[in-house]
Amino acid sequence: MNISNGLEDVYIKNTSITFIDGEKGILRYRGYDIHELAENCTFEEVAYLMIFGELPSRNELVSFSGTVQKSFSLPSYVLNVIDALPQDADILSVFETAFAAFSSEERNFSWSREATLAKAPEILGHAAAVLAAAYRHSQGLKYNPPPASDSYAKSFLSASFGAVPERKIVDAMNRSLVLYADHEVPASTTAALVASSTLSDMYSSIAAAVAALRGPLHGGAAEAAYRQFTEIGRAENTDEWFSKNIIQGKKRLMGFGHRVYRTYDPRMAIFKSMAASLAKDEEERNLLRIAERLERLGVEKFSPKGIYPNTDFYSGIAFRCIGFPVTMFTSLFALSRTAGWIAHMSEYVENGGRIMRPRAVYIGHGPRELPGEKAR
Ligand code: ACO
Repeated sequence: MNISNGLEDVYIKNTSITFIDGEKGILRYRGYDIHELAENCTFEEVAYLMIFGELPSRNELVSFSGTVQKSFSLPSYVLNVIDALPQDADILSVFETAFAAFSSEERNFSWSREATLAKAPEILGHAAAVLAAAYRHSQGLKYNPPPASDSYAKSFLSASFGAVPERKIVDAMNRSLVLYADHEVPASTTAALVASSTLSDMYSSIAAAVAALRGPLHGGAAEAAYRQFTEIGRAENTDEWFSKNIIQGKKRLMGFGHRVYRTYDPRMAIFKSMAASLAKDEEERNLLRIAERLERLGVEKFSPKGIYPNTDFYSGIAFRCIGFPVTMFTSLFALSRTAGWIAHMSEYVENGGRIMRPRAVYIGHGPRELPGEKAR
């Protein structure tokens, strides 16, 4: 019996959404290269492209964005659920809990193409609003829907910070949303697919995806990578830290390695240059110097095994430069990836995807008698 530990090299669906060439370091959404999309498109356009299959016309974009913007208003029961959680609650848990709360109203959920396409912009708006509300809750602040704007990134940042940030910060947020929007079928997307293959509703399926995203081997890696940099403290400590923790301590270098890429993750360089252009003070420049030194040491040691820096290596520094604390990093990833989760779930169900029900090979005891009363 062939067991695939970690489902490595198991193909669970056909897809027209995302193409990855792990040997050459190529990533495309619907045929468009990630560099082109990150440079030239808004997140709304990219989300539309992934979910609907083509970039939107001007009218299509106006209608899609209109629903997204309206959905920055949250129902009071969701705001109450967020308020009921402790102020120091893990922000991603707040996000997940709010999505579970939304699912309480999804009694007659349909996966028809029309229903999915109508639901998608509502969910994207709700995701940004929930995350902004969760962030403000962590700061002891109330959530107010932001003024309607022409950009998802701008509305999300104004809702989070209570003010419209400067243009280069909005552009960086937009780029990061695009970069994390999809990546084929990693653990979180697979979790969403498993849930939606039972025809569960979209909010619950996203909550399942969030649960899978949170671990440090997946979405939590940006936070884990960033914490390495702060632990190192100064660039001149990097070599000693690397030797003690990674070489002798045999710890994993976080933000390095990938199941699919055997070379540089193409998103990494974009995050690196974003972080470099946004770094505004000595503390942020210091983090960058540490990361660059650690990148060199990591590549020297691990590239012969095909282990290179992934997207999470520099994204945390970019998020910090945008203005978010480390406790927000995994949730920012979840916000972007909501678009990819929706696209993959609807593609799977529409293409007649069956309920996911794998098997396990039984290797336990053969039939046996229960021990007598006294032995229990
Ligand atoms: N540091 C040190 N060694 C590593 C690393 C790393 N970051 N990644 C893999 N390895 C080594 C393993 O120790 C193992 O060595 P061995 O064969 O001598 O035992 C070998 O490479 C294969 O590792 P696996 O865990 O089997 O590889 P897998 O494909 O299952 O894991 C993963 C991929 C989980 C991403 C892994 O590289 C890792 O743990 N990286 C650190 C966490 C991280 O950055 N995750 C983010 C991934 S990208 C994303 O989710 C957006």
